[in-house]
Parts: sequence; structure tokens; C-alpha cells
Amino acid sequence: MTDIRNDEDIKKLVHTFYGKVAEHERLGYIFNDFAGVDWDHHLPKMVDFWSNILFQTGRYEGRPYRKHTPLPIKPEDFKSWYDLFTETTDELFRGENAEYVKEMAAKIASAFQVRMEMDGKFEG
Ligand code: HEM
Repeated sequence: MTDIRNDEDIKKLVHTFYGKVAEHERLGYIFNDFAGVDWDHHLPKMVDFWSNILFQTGRYEGRPYRKHTPLPIKPEDFKSWYDLFTETTDELFRGENAEYVKEMAAKIASAFQVRMEMDGKFEG
């Protein structure tokens, strides 16, 4: 098994991960039914997001947190998201970059969760 080396590898990770997300009961509902995500648009954007994190390509310049505030996300959904992300990474890759994306996914997921808590998103 190799490490994440290039864009092709990131594409494989992103496509496999969101394949699982789409089939997950809660996450699939949020992406497909609630948000009606256009996968042909979302997947390349997520490849850009991770390629920027791993290889500083400068291809993603968005502000992702604000896209999540209208979504009906519950605290436990972050755990499902992160579990699927690590499971997929471990299935496909081994190495420093694989460890790094999991570490960043954990940090960002936890930062989103804290911000949502502070914004009162989980009340009621
Ligand atoms: C429960 C967890 C999560 C759910 C349900 C979720 C759901 C979504 C949905 C539905 C969108 C599309 C929004 C739109 O286009 O209007 C989106 C966009 C995005 N998400 Fe998440 N997300 C979650 C966690 C995360 C985490 C932890 C990260 C980062 C590691 C992340 C990164 C992004 C990025 C970069 C975008 C694109 C934003 C843009 O359009 O610039 N998401 N997410």
C-alpha cells in the first residue's frame, strides 16, 4: 500500500469517501435529501480542498464553515463523518500524508463542532 502521492490519489480518496457518505443513513440524508448536493460539482471541489491542504496548490480558497451552518448537523454526525474518513483513508493509503489528512480532518471536524456549539446550533 502506498501513501497519498498526487491528485489521482486524492481523487480516489475523495470519491471513495463520498461514496460511503452518500450511502450512510444520516450523512446521506444531509447531503442528498436536505442539501441536494450536486456531486459533479462537490467532488472536484473537495479534491481541490485536500490538494491545497496536502500540497499547498492554492486551488481552494473558500470558507467552508459557513456552508455548514444551514445544515441539520448534530454533534454525533461529526463522529460518523470522521469515522468514515479515517476508515476510507486506512483502507487505501499508508504513510505520512495519510496520517496528515486524518489529523487535519479531526482538527477541522472538531473546530466546526465547537463553532456550531458556540453559535447555538445544537440547541432545541
Ligand atoms: C457532519 C459532518 C459534515 C457534513 C454533514 C457536511 C456536509 C456538507 C455539505 C452538504 C456541503 C455542501 C454545501 C453546499 O454546497 O451548499 C459541504 C461542503 C463542504 N464541506 Fe462539509 N460536511 C461535514 C463536515 C466537513 C468537514 C469535517 C470538512 C473538512 C475537513 C468539510 C469540508 C467541506 C468543504 C471544504 C466544503 C465545500 C465548501 C465550499 O463550497 O466552499 N465538511 N459539507
